[in-house]
Amino acid sequence: MLILGIETSCDDTGIAIIKVSGKKRPIFKILSNVISSQIKVHQKYGGVVPNLAAREHLRNIEPCLKTAFSPRHLRAGQASKIKPEHIDLIAVTIGPGLIPSLLIGVHFAKTLAYKWQKPIVGVNHIEAHILANLLENKEIKFPAIALVVSGGHTQLILIKKIGDYKILGETRDDAAGECFDKVAKLLRLGYPGGPEIAAQAAKYKIRTTKYEIQLPRPMINHKNYDFSFSGLKTAVLYKVKDMKKINVPEMCYEVQQAIIDVLIEKTLRAAKEYKVRTIILSGGVAANEELRKQFKLKIGNCSCIRGARKLKIDFLVPPKILCTDNAAMIAVAGYFGAKRRPAQRDIKANANLRIGQ
Ligand code: KG4
Ligand code: ZN
Repeated sequence: MLILGIETSCDDTGIAIIKVSGKKRPIFKILSNVISSQIKVHQKYGGVVPNLAAREHLRNIEPCLKTAFSPRHLRAGQASKIKPEHIDLIAVTIGPGLIPSLLIGVHFAKTLAYKWQKPIVGVNHIEAHILANLLENKEIKFPAIALVVSGGHTQLILIKKIGDYKILGETRDDAAGECFDKVAKLLRLGYPGGPEIAAQAAKYKIRTTKYEIQLPRPMINHKNYDFSFSGLKTAVLYKVKDMKKINVPEMCYEVQQAIIDVLIEKTLRAAKEYKVRTIILSGGVAANEELRKQFKLKIGNCSCIRGARKLKIDFLVPPKILCTDNAAMIAVAGYFGAKRRPAQRDIKANANLRIGQ
């Protein structure tokens, strides 16, 4: 079966075509995955401007669709074979996200479904980030726990099976990615802030000068699974004001490490409490090399006791290109969504859509 995925929840316009095969369990293969980034448009504002994002989605979405079907872009062997009439399902992000952006994707998807006479399914963007892992033909052993860290969300989610989600904790203020972006703005680095901070932090490690800057690890010892990152951003602001000269690489190293320490500590604690077999890391911040490396290292030493058995905990993280927003992950989530609720007619954008409700 072929699924067309559409993603416009924030500032990336994404159109993808995936193929689903396999008898025992579905195997997902990306045939095309087009992403049109709006970084240049939002860069000068240091963050996403919703109405500008919607205007750009409107401008880019049709060219992205054409590219997705173009023989030059389609995966080798599929060239010129795939046409709109071969698509079996259209999957589109309905939330959470920015409403002006979401509306463009939802209306575009509905128009295509009407024009091509195809079924349509609405997808939760957070579920899609989690299921991006299946694109690598990986298997999730349940129960699993997912840490979704993006520009808009930081959530720790318990997964009993695909479709059965429970939010264990989430950020009370800024998301982890938002913290990266805001600190980068404060330090006058570029946008998006995550990759900029990571690049600066890597420079510090090479120089290994005296370690002067120390930042808090917010809520790390709280018993619940909630997070808070706005205080970290404020702590950086005070340091910047107090210090005559800022060592930017050192500051970035410490901010990144503070975020990583909190994320790993809380995820591992939840993994042990719920005796999970898999830890999933996903969302844009999961592209952070240090976060991936340190998670892998810590999980490598962990196991869970189930009954009389001691089991290794698997660690899943998508390749970096599939961590940030893309439509291939929307198509995968659409596959499962359509199985749960076939023939959807009431597709509506919902900026505050929550997973597991
Ligand atoms: O999932 P995503 O593409 O969009 C949302 O759904 O929000 O995530 C974007 C976020 C941005 O805040 C960006 O700074 C962050 O992911 N990000 C990173 C890295 N690459 C992207 N954060 C830390 N390190 C990175 N390498
Ligand atoms: Zn996202």
